[in-house]
Amino acid sequence: MLYAGFNVQDLPTPVLLLDLEKFNWNIEKMFAFSKKVGVNIRPHAKTFKSAAICNRLIEAGAIGIMTQKLSEADVLLNSGILYGNKNILISQELTDPSKIECLVGYNVAMEEGKVLTSLDDLREAEIINKIAERWGTKQHVIIEMSHGRCGTPPGQPTVDLAKKIQKMPSLVFRGIYGYENPVKQEVALQRNKQTVDTANMIREAGIPVEIVSAGSTATYEVTGTYPGITEIEPGSFVFGVGPEGSGYGWKAENNVYFKNSLSVLTSIISTTHEDRVVTDAGSKVFGAPNTGVVPPVLAYMNNERIGFERAGFSEEHCTLQFKEGSEERKKLHWGQKISLTPNHCCTTVNQHEKIFVIKNNKVVTVWPITARGMYL
Ligand SMILES: Cc1ncc(COP(=O)(O)O)c(C=O)c1O
Repeated sequence: MLYAGFNVQDLPTPVLLLDLEKFNWNIEKMFAFSKKVGVNIRPHAKTFKSAAICNRLIEAGAIGIMTQKLSEADVLLNSGILYGNKNILISQELTDPSKIECLVGYNVAMEEGKVLTSLDDLREAEIINKIAERWGTKQHVIIEMSHGRCGTPPGQPTVDLAKKIQKMPSLVFRGIYGYENPVKQEVALQRNKQTVDTANMIREAGIPVEIVSAGSTATYEVTGTYPGITEIEPGSFVFGVGPEGSGYGWKAENNVYFKNSLSVLTSIISTTHEDRVVTDAGSKVFGAPNTGVVPPVLAYMNNERIGFERAGFSEEHCTLQFKEGSEERKKLHWGQKISLTPNHCCTTVNQHEKIFVIKNNKVVTVWPITARGMYL
């Protein structure tokens, strides 16, 4: 808080920065799309984990939020973001009865349907039903339908589980979700068809399906306009995707573009070699990138791109390697501060307690990463 008005270049490094104008641009783009095509947005908070960002998204029109973890839902719920009719949906399955007790407890303490959960197994449904019955409440659930990770197989197995859930007196079946992953348009279309066809099969069995959720940043347009999808669940769009970085790297499926609003300000702490510089932010600051994603970063000095050859990480260092005699290398000096764009925003944000919100190279405010490290 007391950093407001500071010049960004005066901040001690390494520090996580959010460019407010680019961040707002991303949010406006996503919600303009939502209004235009009439699809709801339930941003996935596992990307940004910050109650302040959840609030900003809810003000922009989000119908609620998604979290991956029970404990993420716990801290975000208790930070007051879900006012009015907004709700929270936990996208990861639960097996531990003590966690399920917590889940049901949120609803008892607030109101039925405030926290929904997704499941893919009859055993989880039975435990939830028993606990909800004991509390004299009803737990709202959706089924996760698989496109390669957790989830029931599309079609009849999902319908069979929905039928069993429908018969349980302390469960309310609200719908399904089929996260199709950040895939190319053709694959997303096939997967969306499976999701919507399965929802329709459940309806044909006489069970109402209110929520049909899917989508990621990479597929927001293809999935958001797919008939029968009621809501999309993108997360990393707030931090940017496309040729400038930073969502899941430079590679953006389906020409999706959001501005890169996230960076880590670092100091050049060693310039003893002509072909490299070393900064003070390593893998502990950036977090592990997604499997299969190369870990390059983009480097900027005063908003100008620095053309290095490759970046190497150790725990507390990032070495930028240049070609011999590189003019780019000559522009960099000992003690300079440069910003590095993370390759994978979600894992980077999770490494930090705070994100410094900046505008015109000055700190505007500091937002806590409320659900940082919430793995339960
Ligand atoms: C279930 C689920 N939904 C939505 C998303 C959001 O994806 P993205 O951050 O690419 O928008 C993810 C990301 O991993 C996810 O696991």
